Amino acid sequence: MIKVAPSLLASDYLDFGGALQKVMASGADALHYDVMDGEFVPAITFGQDLLKRLASKGFPVDAHLMIVHPEKHIKEFAEAGAHYITVHQEAAGFQLNDTLRLIRSCGCLAGVSVKPYTSVEALSDCLELCDLILVMTVEPGKGGQKLLPFTLDKVRRVKQMCEEHGVHPLIEVDGGINTETARLAVQAGANMLVAGSAFFKAEDQVGFVKMLKESEN
Ligand code: DX5
Ligand code: ZN
Repeated sequence: MIKVAPSLLASDYLDFGGALQKVMASGADALHYDVMDGEFVPAITFGQDLLKRLASKGFPVDAHLMIVHPEKHIKEFAEAGAHYITVHQEAAGFQLNDTLRLIRSCGCLAGVSVKPYTSVEALSDCLELCDLILVMTVEPGKGGQKLLPFTLDKVRRVKQMCEEHGVHPLIEVDGGINTETARLAVQAGANMLVAGSAFFKAEDQVGFVKMLKESEN
């Protein structure tokens, strides 16, 4: 089963409640929530308080932390109600494994992400601690970019590494996902698809999510 997580980043910022309703009504599995701190990436977006308001509706929130020192903020995001919390390997550094353990100990599903130019081999020591591996298919920091085709090889490699280790985390892709690139990502091994612009631009969001979920056929 392919999971779909539309990204709030591409929604109308005057109406976050409406955006959540659209996502919930679309048949998607989670709301992807991009947290940017102006340091790990240039932009600054949303924090814990907005996440708490959104999570209060009971729909799973997939928090993607593009922030330095993510370990300092895990508890707050968990208490706010995040279902998945993903940190960047590049930001977590030596504390990555402890941070993943911390996420799980807070009752959330633990994710780790790598930017396009970070080798996935950097994850080989933490695979057992991950419920989700997010392979960035664009440079993180903004929506509306084109998927970088070489990142699909990384998805293939992550899948292979997981098989070798006998673990089965979700393999998520994020950036430039539309109905065409979704098929390529799923063929490469992804089973969770983030879509920002393509979701919010779609006239038929139910149909869009259905097509993404059928990408493997
Ligand atoms: C980029 C974010 C993505 C973004 C994807 O840094 O992590 O989640 O919302 O947007 P699209 O789907 O427009 O590429
Ligand atoms: Zn994201």
